[in-house]
Amino acid sequence: MTPPASLCLLLLGELGIFALGHFTKGQNSSTLIFTKGNTIRNCSCPVGVRDCDYSLASLMCSCKSVLPFAMEQTRYDHLTIWFTDASTLGQLLEFTLVQDLKLSLCGSYTLPTKYLAICGLQRLRISAEAKRPFREQSLLVPSRRDSRSSYKGWQTCMFISFLDMALFNRDSSLKSYSIDNVSSLTRDFPDFPYFKTSPIPNNKSCVVTIIY
Ligand SMILES: *[C@@H]1O[C@H](CO)[C@@H](O)[C@H](O)[C@H]1NC(C)=O
Ligand SMILES: *[C@@H]1O[C@H](CO)[C@@H](O)[C@H](O)[C@H]1NC(C)=O
Ligand SMILES: *[C@@H]1O[C@H](CO)[C@@H](O)[C@H](O)[C@H]1NC(C)=O
Ligand SMILES: *[C@@H]1O[C@H](CO)[C@@H](O)[C@H](O)[C@H]1NC(C)=O
Repeated sequence: MTPPASLCLLLLGELGIFALGHFTKGQNSSTLIFTKGNTIRNCSCPVGVRDCDYSLASLMCSCKSVLPFAMEQTRYDHLTIWFTDASTLGQLLEFTLVQDLKLSLCGSYTLPTKYLAICGLQRLRISAEAKRPFREQSLLVPSRRDSRSSYKGWQTCMFISFLDMALFNRDSSLKSYSIDNVSSLTRDFPDFPYFKTSPIPNNKSCVVTIIY
C-alpha cells in the first residue's frame, strides 16, 4: 500500500507536470534556441525564463534537438537565442526573418567583429552574462513599411539589419544607423564585407540598418 505522504507527492508531481504542460502550451510561449557545446536545442518556453539558465529551461520548456545541418530557414515573431560562439549564432540566424529578437551571450567569450545579417528585425534585445552589473539593452529598428509581407528570400529581403557581433564585448550602448538609399550605402561603406560578397538588391524599397 502506498503511504499517504508519497501518494500526495505523486499527485503533486502529476499536477505539476500537468500545469507545466499547460503552461508551455499557453499562448505566451516563445521560441528559445540554445547552444551548449555541440548541442542545439529548440524549445518552446513560457515567457520569463532567466537568461542562460539551462537547467531551468530544461525543466520548464519543451525542447527538441536540432542537427546543425538540418536547420531550416524559418520566420519567427519572437525568438530568443542563448549562445556561446559567433559561428553557431551565424548558422542559426543568418538571413533569418525575425521581428523580435533577444540574444544572450552565455559565459565569458570574446566575439569577433563579424556582421550577422537578419531580415525584418524590428526589436532587438541583447545581454551578456559576463557583464557586471548585468543589464539588458534594447533597440527599436526603424521600419516604415510592413516588413512581414516583403520577405521572399535574400534578394527580396527589404529590411536587412547587420549586427556587429563585437558589440557583445563592449560596454557602450547599442546604436543603429539606417539608410534607405542603397547606392549611397555602398559608396559610403565600400569595404563593408557583405557588399563585396553578396550585393544588396538594388531596390529603392530596401532599408539597411547597421547595429553596432
Ligand atoms: C499573454 O500575455 C498577455 C500580456 O502580456 C496577457 O494579457 C495574456 O493573458 C497572456 N496569455 C496567456 C495565455 O497567458
Ligand atoms: C524550432 O521550432 C520551431 C517550432 O517547431 C520551428 O518553426 C523552427 O523551424 C525550429 N527552428 C530550428 C532552427 O530548427
Ligand atoms: C542615392 O545615392 C546616390 C549615390 O550616392 C545618389 O546619386 C542619389 O541621388 C541618392 N538618391 C536619393 C533619393 O537620395
Ligand atoms: C523592389 O521591391 C518591390 C517591393 O517588394 C518589388 O515590387 C519590385 O519588383 C522590386 N524591384 C526590383 C528591381 O527588384
